[in-house]
Amino acid sequence: MGPLRQDAVTPVAVVTGAAQGIGRATAVRLAADGFAVALVDLNADTLESAVREVAERDGKTVAIHADLASLDEVTRAIEQVQTTWGRLDALVNNAGREITKPFTEISPADWEAILSLDLRTVFFATQQAARAMIARGAEGRIVNIASIAGRSGRSDQAPYAAAKAGVISVTRSAARALATHRITVNAICPGIVDTAMTRRIHERRARELGVSPEESLRRMVGRIPLGRMASPDDVAAAVSFFCSPQASYITGQALNVCGGIEMD
Ligand SMILES: NC(=O)c1ccc[n+]([C@@H]2O[C@H](COP(=O)([O-])OP(=O)(O)OC[C@H]3O[C@@H](n4cnc5c(N)ncnc54)[C@H](O)[C@@H]3O)[C@@H](O)[C@H]2O)c1
Repeated sequence: MGPLRQDAVTPVAVVTGAAQGIGRATAVRLAADGFAVALVDLNADTLESAVREVAERDGKTVAIHADLASLDEVTRAIEQVQTTWGRLDALVNNAGREITKPFTEISPADWEAILSLDLRTVFFATQQAARAMIARGAEGRIVNIASIAGRSGRSDQAPYAAAKAGVISVTRSAARALATHRITVNAICPGIVDTAMTRRIHERRARELGVSPEESLRRMVGRIPLGRMASPDDVAAAVSFFCSPQASYITGQALNVCGGIEMD
């Protein structure tokens, strides 16, 4: 898949939560597609190793250490990308966290923690990236990593599911608001992806169910029509497509990448 812009200048992408999992696979994939990639993450150690992985494959890259739960840090991170490379062509809002606990035990602090990073940050990072893209008058791409939890709700992840439903809504509002600037905005709703987040979720669900984490995960995978978890690369491939010239007529969509477990 070629880069977004096919001129002599390297297009620039920002991937949040890029130190591991889906974000890391996305950063590697976009670098292979020809983007210079800024990797933003809270975890400095894993961030350095992810940046090395991109650089070792001849990708142009920079590490930005930031806690994106803070809007000041969101602003600083996106400004740093513009200062480094003087442009911004694609933003992938991937950083996210979940809290898995029974509905009746969710506290106001849990709600704030999840909604601030998983929804508020997505909105304001999108807004700031859009301003930069509009100022240059160039085509742009924004891809938000939502979740199938945002489609159907979760009994033990209510704030997370609400945030991800909000991400789908923000995606559609932004797509409408930014279409005249040739900025497309799409969401991806992964299903069960083979990452540290999934392992953490099943450790907690296993305790509730009184089974092993492996058994909890096996039961979940048993419900997936394609019979396996997604790899981070499966999600990165969809991001790559949305960031490609081939996707220039697609905006405001939410694509399930879930092996068929969710079909609406
Ligand atoms: N794993 C799944 O099954 C799954 C399913 C659907 C959606 N998702 C979504 O995909 C995205 C990535 O998930 P993953 O499974 O790769 O997660 P992960 O936990 O493996 O990785 C998340 C990354 O985000 C970073 N991060 C967390 N909080 C941050 C903060 N405040 N500021 C900056 N960086 C921060 C972490 O350090 C980590 O590197 C999330 O938005 C998640 O909700 C994951």
